[in-house]
Amino acid sequence: MDDDLEDLARVVSAEADAIERSSEAALRPRNLDEFVGQRTVREQLGLVLRAAIARGGTSDHVLLSGPPGLGKTTLALIIAQEMGSTLRVTSGPAIQHAGDLAAVLSSLDEGDVLFIDEIHRLARPAEEMLYLAMEDFRVDVVVGKGPGATSIPLTLPPFTAVGATTRAGLLPAPLRDRFGFTGHLDFYEPDELKAILVRSAGMLDLSISHDAAAEIASRSRGTPRIANRLLRRVRDWAQVHGDGRGTLDAARAALEVYEVDEMGLDRLDRAVLGALCTRFGGGPVGLTTLAVAVGEEPETVETVAEPFLVREGLMSRSPRGRVATALAWEHLGLPVPDGPAAGTGGSRLFE
Ligand SMILES: Nc1ncnc2c1ncn2[C@@H]1O[C@H](COP(=O)(O)OP(=O)(O)O)[C@@H](O)[C@H]1O
Ligand SMILES: [Mg+2]
Repeated sequence: MDDDLEDLARVVSAEADAIERSSEAALRPRNLDEFVGQRTVREQLGLVLRAAIARGGTSDHVLLSGPPGLGKTTLALIIAQEMGSTLRVTSGPAIQHAGDLAAVLSSLDEGDVLFIDEIHRLARPAEEMLYLAMEDFRVDVVVGKGPGATSIPLTLPPFTAVGATTRAGLLPAPLRDRFGFTGHLDFYEPDELKAILVRSAGMLDLSISHDAAAEIASRSRGTPRIANRLLRRVRDWAQVHGDGRGTLDAARAALEVYEVDEMGLDRLDRAVLGALCTRFGGGPVGLTTLAVAVGEEPETVETVAEPFLVREGLMSRSPRGRVATALAWEHLGLPVPDGPAAGTGGSRLFE
């Protein structure tokens, strides 16, 4: 029962678990041309890479920022692939001490692409070591402990650092400045998601109708990871209850089973909106209070539910807290209260 609940809660999560990562790997675009959407980033990054190849050197360091599931890891892999380089992967949380980073850095070969996922979670000493390495291709390796410790400077071969972060704002300026190119990924348009779904269906050997792909796309919260996951659920449904094809009926029925509504909201989103409207009269209410009301971590509400709710105009952020918009009440099928006390009045609606 608990497992079932977790599965249901996760179906529109933009994060991937361990099992999902392996099925995702199969669907990843292998080069920039296969990468759908994000035209600006794709064009700019394409130029950076082509110029580096023409110079016969390594590319500028690249920072990729944006919400989970939009293609940061995919782009890091593509950068290495397009450069014909070896990709080395690590992450902020995996590096506990500066020494861990020193070990990674000192094992790099010339031209390697070092992908650092969740770079905003690097510990401060590691961060400082990283920006020295990015700027001067040098690292000071500390040998020994205490007063007797000595630091040995080590020269690194030229490499390309690719950082990914969901929170670019949390990166200290000196680190951010070391990246020659920053690409910000934004939520995808429904027709872009549809193109991704049609491509994925082809790779999964699932025949899918255009209206089914459009239906799934419109409920995928602008996020390729969610689109691909919902597609797998639709395929499951079609195999068990249908004729194995991804029809509009199969798509609708599967999404109903997983409680993903027409706007792509799941239980958590509706819980957040519901609490905001009914328990806090539409706000403003602080993030922590709101998170407690739905039994979630503030970070989950902030990074999983909120960006989408704000983007869809269901919720707005004001200096005094989170506020429900008229659309939120309407979406929940509740009467829209009037007057500023309800949190929907005045200019806050349009923030
Ligand atoms: N632009 C895109 N075109 C096609 N598939 C994409 C695109 N962006 C992401 N995906 C797919 O979505 C999934 C999640 O992408 P990923 O790069 O892991 O996101 P992030 O690292 O930003 O969380 C992958 O399976 C990938 O294949
Ligand atoms: Mg990733």
